Amino acid sequence: MGRNQISIPYENLKLLNAPFRKEFNEAFQAVLDSGWFVLGNHVESFEREFAEYNGSYYCVGVASGLDALILSLEVLDIPKGSEIIVPSNTYIATILAILRADLTPILVEPDEFTYNLDPKKIVEKITNKTKAILPVHLYGKCCQMDKILAIADEYGLYIIEDSAQAHGSMFTNTKAGNFGTLGAFSFYPTKNLGGLGDGGAIITSDSTLYDKLLYFRNYGSKQKYKNDYIGYNSRLDEIQAAFLSIKLKYLDKINSHKRELAKVYYQNLTGLAKLPHIDEKFYDTYHIFNICTDRRDSLRAYLMEYGIMTEVHYPIPPHQQKAYQHLWNSNFPISTKIHETTLSLPISFFHTTEQIHEVSDKICDFLRK
Ligand SMILES: Cc1ncc(COP(=O)(O)O)c(C=O)c1O
Repeated sequence: MGRNQISIPYENLKLLNAPFRKEFNEAFQAVLDSGWFVLGNHVESFEREFAEYNGSYYCVGVASGLDALILSLEVLDIPKGSEIIVPSNTYIATILAILRADLTPILVEPDEFTYNLDPKKIVEKITNKTKAILPVHLYGKCCQMDKILAIADEYGLYIIEDSAQAHGSMFTNTKAGNFGTLGAFSFYPTKNLGGLGDGGAIITSDSTLYDKLLYFRNYGSKQKYKNDYIGYNSRLDEIQAAFLSIKLKYLDKINSHKRELAKVYYQNLTGLAKLPHIDEKFYDTYHIFNICTDRRDSLRAYLMEYGIMTEVHYPIPPHQQKAYQHLWNSNFPISTKIHETTLSLPISFFHTTEQIHEVSDKICDFLRK
């Protein structure tokens, strides 16, 4: 390690989960003792709790955030090949889900300050093949949902929200996932509500879609060996549901802690780099706290010399990924610029404000040089 011995990991899942260890052990014991591991009481309880937390009627637990998106798109019965509006800077899973559902992703550039789908750029991409908008509440900040809802309303489009990074995030006091027809979540371990393995969920207030999702996640079947749909095997495990019920009780505390840490970055770094946009209508939960600077790579190397770990979300935009680049021949300059300059700073539940001051001090030292 470098010039002194500060050592601040970007994330550490053991430390992150340490406060819940005792409750996790009890939950593990209870699931083991029950002898029931797939689609049982723990999944049902978690679904009820998560729907209630979000202010939604229904929740369906599935195997991952990617599956939550695929099933959401499929359950709507959108004609194959229809166009789905999606931000050009999203994590690849959003685009992959659209392709897996035999639909066409239409990339729209994000707003350069919020990093989220820019409502002003949506209408020009709408054609008679457009059937849905798939906003992504990236980094834990909700999209400008009033404007997006108005466009969807005017053009008769579905809204499916990718809320994988936004558990508990709000816009005008409504929680992410609760604006559109369906809201998809991931419980990947690093998420603000993360399990101890893969998991996902869909929330909705539409009883018909809810019922269909129960079939779709379980081989198209609600009654054993009777298949009414061509479905999937995509179920949330009992053990993950039990862990997630515990973690859900602490989600608001986790989000508040991250917001406190974010405040330290704002105090120390304002004016030195581009920081996440703040607006009082948005309740941001900082799944990721990113800054943008043209000196991103050298700043990252400098911090690493002091044992301060950072991440880049994400280094390559979707339209430049090897597997996808044949799909688009346009440039997405805003997205490309974000990918070239963004740096994600430590902001986990286990970090202390002292650590965030240390990270900020080192960033100040570097950027003031
Ligand atoms: C924006 C976004 N959408 C979808 C996903 C997919 O979730 P999962 O990894 O649980 O499949 C992720 C996960 O990283 C994500 O960040």
